[in-house]
Amino acid sequence: MTAFTVLGIESSCDETAAAVVRGVADAPPGEILSSIVYDQTDLHSAFGGVVPEIAARAHAEKLDVAVREALRTAGLGLADMDAIAVTAGPGLIGGLISGVSCAKGLAIGSGKPLVGVNHLEGHALTARLTDGVAYPFLLLLVSGGHCQLLSVSGPGAYARLGTTLDDAPGEAFDKTAKLMGLGFPGGPAVERKAAGGDAARFDFPRALIGRKGLDFSFSGLKTALRVKLDGLRAAGPVSEQDQADLCAGFQAACVEALTRVTGKAMAVFREAHPEVAAPVLAVAGGVAANQSVRAGLDAVAGAQGFALVAPPLSLCTDNAAMIAWAGLERYAGGHTDSLTLAPRPRWPLDTAATPVAKYGKRGAKA
Ligand code: KG4
Ligand code: ZN
Repeated sequence: MTAFTVLGIESSCDETAAAVVRGVADAPPGEILSSIVYDQTDLHSAFGGVVPEIAARAHAEKLDVAVREALRTAGLGLADMDAIAVTAGPGLIGGLISGVSCAKGLAIGSGKPLVGVNHLEGHALTARLTDGVAYPFLLLLVSGGHCQLLSVSGPGAYARLGTTLDDAPGEAFDKTAKLMGLGFPGGPAVERKAAGGDAARFDFPRALIGRKGLDFSFSGLKTALRVKLDGLRAAGPVSEQDQADLCAGFQAACVEALTRVTGKAMAVFREAHPEVAAPVLAVAGGVAANQSVRAGLDAVAGAQGFALVAPPLSLCTDNAAMIAWAGLERYAGGHTDSLTLAPRPRWPLDTAATPVAKYGKRGAKA
């Protein structure tokens, strides 16, 4: 029951982040002493997506600033850390190299142990950091690069129950925003637009919902959106209301796909874990910031006797507090990495699960 204080570093996509977290791995929740996030939206928005080379250079410029700021805000120095945790994958290789090199330098300079963290594990264990959720729990990881249902039994102990067979929902949100010129990142823009729309006006497909199994598919939805938009454009100018109705219909279809499959996964989890008296559905990743997604999941969880644990919005999207916490749990379990730690662009949580044919456009990322 030892309390540890861990510095976390995250640079796998387009956020440069550092954080200090303190806690006892076996007695969560943890305490976030600082969480600094520099997002790179301004650098990438002109391109409508993350440009890997620009991201890597920006990380290299900003990492030391983020680390200094995280330590200063926490009122601590490197000497007070028990370990230095860094995202070692999955993600964009340039950003990962920047972060891992920075962490290695700090580890050499301070003599502190280095812990390489899987970015997806950071998202996965956020519900423990924030709410002290006990193992095992059911997790829906839903982001710009992933859509997975996992049974989580401990750090490194994941069983994938289902996954997307094509696109990730965040990718579909981003694409929708791009097609309509709503800006980048797309998720929040589409959510804002959908608020004034009529979800029933357009009929969007609900792929795979009726099928057996716990897999998802979002590419049909993305195509349907494009076809409907093209149809409207061919008939005349597309109004603000048209856009709002399209966004609302698209978002409702996404929510329905997520909630229906997650509902089925709850039954599977219950059967596998009859000993769990108060089961939890945790949701993580950028798309978990969407209020309709949260409300839909809350309803389906409540109906099946699960408690929904959804992190605060700032901990849904990429941050370093989740990396520090996952590193803390790993370190408490006796895991450290040597200075030969290598970044891994691809790194699934459930290594025994069959890889799917296609990863999201943004890579095997969450
Ligand atoms: O986990 P995350 O920060 O990083 C990666 O996937 O790399 O997730 C980012 C994704 C983006 O696709 C973004 O559009 C989506 O999460 N997202 C949202 C919302 N906020 C972020 N999607 C829907 N509604 C939102 N409010
Ligand atoms: Zn992420």
